[in-house]
Amino acid sequence: MKNVRIALLGLGTVGSGVVTILQTHAERLRKQTGTNFEIAGILVRDTTRSRQVDVERSLLTTDIARIWESKPDVVVDAMGGLVPTLGYIEEAIARGCHVVSANKELIAVHGARLHALAGEQGVGLLYEASVGGGIPVLNTLAQLLNVNRITRVAGILNGTTNYILTRMEEDGLPYEAVLAQAQELGFAEADPTADVEGYDAFHKIRIVARLCFGEEVEEEVGLREGITSVTAEEIELYGRLGLRVKLLATAERTKAGLRVQVAPTLVPHSHALSHVKNEYNGVFVTGDVVGDLFFTGKGAGMLPTGSAIVEDIVHAVRGITFTPETAVATQAVEIKAGEGAAE
Ligand code: NAP
Ligand code: HSE
Repeated sequence: MKNVRIALLGLGTVGSGVVTILQTHAERLRKQTGTNFEIAGILVRDTTRSRQVDVERSLLTTDIARIWESKPDVVVDAMGGLVPTLGYIEEAIARGCHVVSANKELIAVHGARLHALAGEQGVGLLYEASVGGGIPVLNTLAQLLNVNRITRVAGILNGTTNYILTRMEEDGLPYEAVLAQAQELGFAEADPTADVEGYDAFHKIRIVARLCFGEEVEEEVGLREGITSVTAEEIELYGRLGLRVKLLATAERTKAGLRVQVAPTLVPHSHALSHVKNEYNGVFVTGDVVGDLFFTGKGAGMLPTGSAIVEDIVHAVRGITFTPETAVATQAVEIKAGEGAAE
């Protein structure tokens, strides 16, 4: 049986989910893939901290050199941030490792270049977990692009803010108390400003825009607004009017070009997105052939995110990967020429 060695960068919420799934589903993974997946090493900041999962202490290290010495086949970024993570991911690719990442910030900012590096090295770069948690948003979009021109992707892409808005409305709890709950549950980013100010959802919609429209969306471009200005009184008042506040992320073709934005939006109670609650995400996709699609599921948390990562590990080992550049090359040209824009 083939043996695949996995190095984990990070053993917080997401890393613990990956380890749990590799432990609890080892037999199923072996049967389904004919492969034994083995943890080669785990990079953390503090090897003495108590952990959510049982792991051999000898696997934990604070020294990246020990990760390279463990000769991994796949490196999983469950660590987040840009520094020192980017350097580690570049090194992993240079060493011929497949990379699987949950790190939307890194992929939003450096994804195009990392794809080029991975392409040169002939390794996979997969990051399903970076958008929509457990919902297979990116892999599904990639599978639609051979035929479809995607015209619009819009939805709830941040679990923390959706959790906050839901609990504020349904429990009448203050913002600070629900944010603390979302942090406790492991949904929030290390710095929750990324969630509540809309940066996290913006990173995710940038990744979607690269895949679907072949465009690099710079951080300063487009509207980005979070939920910090939304008050409990507003939520209550709009509720009485049959409306719910949701943080929506949108990328769409318009006659003027690509429009990308993240903003709190009023959604009627009759709309499917208004029923996407707590840490769930919900995404509408419109393609010119397939029409409208709607996906929903847990957008954050240990096991849904771990599920996306472990599936990506299997895809990487099987050589299944997508490169946004080739998938959307023609679509990008069409947008730049202002052709075929949505009405
Ligand atoms: P987390 O709970 O804060 O865990 C981060 C882990 O990385 C910790 O184990 C930490 O070590 C380690 N780490 C951080 N900086 C490090 C450094 N400089 N050197 C070595 N180790 C370092 O974060 P998380 O929620 O699992 O998120 C990880 C990534 O997944 C982020 O990019 C996040 O955006 C993304 N993501 C999260 C979710 C979610 O539901 N939480 C869902 C999808 C994607 P210590 O444990 O020793 O502190
Ligand atoms: N902080 C992110 C969220 C984690 O709440 O959606 C999942 O990407």
